[in-house]
Amino acid sequence: MSYKASFRVWRGDADGGGLQDFTVEVNEGEVVLDIIHRLQATQAADLAVRWNCKAGKCGSCSAEINGRPRLLCMTRMSTFTEDEVITVTPMRTFPVIRDLVTDVSFNYTKAREIPSFTPPADLKPGEYRMQQVDVERSQEFRKCIECFLCQNTCHVVRDHEENKEAFAGPRYLMRIAELEMHPLDVADRRDAAQDEHGLGYCNITKCCSEVCPEGIHITDNALIPMKERVADRKYDPIVWLGNKLFRRDK
Ligand code: SF4
Ligand code: SF4
Ligand code: FES
Repeated sequence: MSYKASFRVWRGDADGGGLQDFTVEVNEGEVVLDIIHRLQATQAADLAVRWNCKAGKCGSCSAEINGRPRLLCMTRMSTFTEDEVITVTPMRTFPVIRDLVTDVSFNYTKAREIPSFTPPADLKPGEYRMQQVDVERSQEFRKCIECFLCQNTCHVVRDHEENKEAFAGPRYLMRIAELEMHPLDVADRRDAAQDEHGLGYCNITKCCSEVCPEGIHITDNALIPMKERVADRKYDPIVWLGNKLFRRDK
């Protein structure tokens, strides 16, 4: 059964833009990305949208639907009533390139700032041994499809462009936590997490976890354990004494 839906889609570029109204056909079983494609095919041939898999796996089609950060390809039209006006806008935290496509290079910059996996120098491939519990922890974080919806949602940068320099965002703080908790990673990532990647900005509101399409418990399983490790280091009396003595010697 098909019906006509009212869509408001943001059109524009870096110089500005606005919402444009469309009335468009919707068929049973369709998702919002299908409707955006129908708009391209019938009414707005130059409407820009980024997508690849249409299966919730490539992380390309991130946008905001009625103000909520979501994947266009995983949002079923059946979640809306037929008379509802559906507003589709680009992710707010990143600069617009055109229409629904944003420049997400902030995320790649942050990814490059994190030193890669650092196993012990004398450990050879084939000698790696891990407990199943450690494998499972990494596997949860590795489900990330790099859609950047969590980065887009986090209030630390969503309304504060000035914080971007000092804050890696939940996806990359999770990457640091993954490596810090990895039993074969010998790098100490705690000071860098706090001082260079802005872990202290996070006040564990869990908004990032709520929008993650992979259901990763970003806050509970990565950010909070990482904060605990940083606090252990900062407030451990033995570490504190060691730092004092080291400074006195110098
Ligand atoms: S839990 Fe931390 S990283 Fe996640 S949205 Fe809240 S402040 Fe941002
Ligand atoms: S952690 Fe979740 S929301 Fe964030 S980039 Fe990965 S898949 Fe997307
Ligand atoms: S098109 Fe790949 S996640 Fe939506």
